[in-house]
Amino acid sequence: MAAKLGILGSGEGSNMAAIDDSCRSGVLAAEVALVLSDVEDSGILKLAKERNISHAYIAPGQYRTKLDDSAESEFIRQLQAAAVDWVVLAGFMRIIKSNSLRAFPERIVNIHPSLLPSFPGLGAAAQAIEFGAKVTGATVHVVDQGIDTGAIIAQEAVRIEEGDTAQRLHERIKATEHRLYPQALNDLISGRIKICGRTTQRQAWKRTPKS
Ligand code: GRF
Repeated sequence: MAAKLGILGSGEGSNMAAIDDSCRSGVLAAEVALVLSDVEDSGILKLAKERNISHAYIAPGQYRTKLDDSAESEFIRQLQAAAVDWVVLAGFMRIIKSNSLRAFPERIVNIHPSLLPSFPGLGAAAQAIEFGAKVTGATVHVVDQGIDTGAIIAQEAVRIEEGDTAQRLHERIKATEHRLYPQALNDLISGRIKICGRTTQRQAWKRTPKS
């Protein structure tokens, strides 16, 4: 049975669309069961509607960088009601709190537009340019209680060109993300990659015994 994904985002939704495309084309043995956002007029909710994916806006509450407790409970409730197997963060701009981590242990993944542990947090492309780095990239990782600190599942480098703006660089990183995120999810969902504490292990290919 196809794994059910619950995707959380606050922005444009291009990663959600790339993941949904991979599901629909059969490249990823999963289904986007639900899209949730803390931003009522976000692109991700518009895209979910266009694609006939169940979606909802949940008011985040009083804080700027995290959900308040009742909003967090509502996110968890809706994800559990949709029976999602994996919670996929795609541009979700709030810290994930411990109740969510407990509800979906090692089942929440995120994509970040840098090669972690470099440039965590906001404005990762701008941080890389300001630092004078020559290479940055994208990282898919498991979500833990820190900010962009969980076990790394997949990474891909993107070269920083002379004269790059943060926006132009971020667009190129996103193009990489659209390939990397579905691949990494496929590895996780199929069990080809197993999470082992801080790291991950690629499983040996299992042949089906000949009869
Ligand atoms: C991506 O670059 C992702 O790495 C970051 O936020 C951006 C979301 O873009 N966390 P989109 O909403 O998927 O277009």
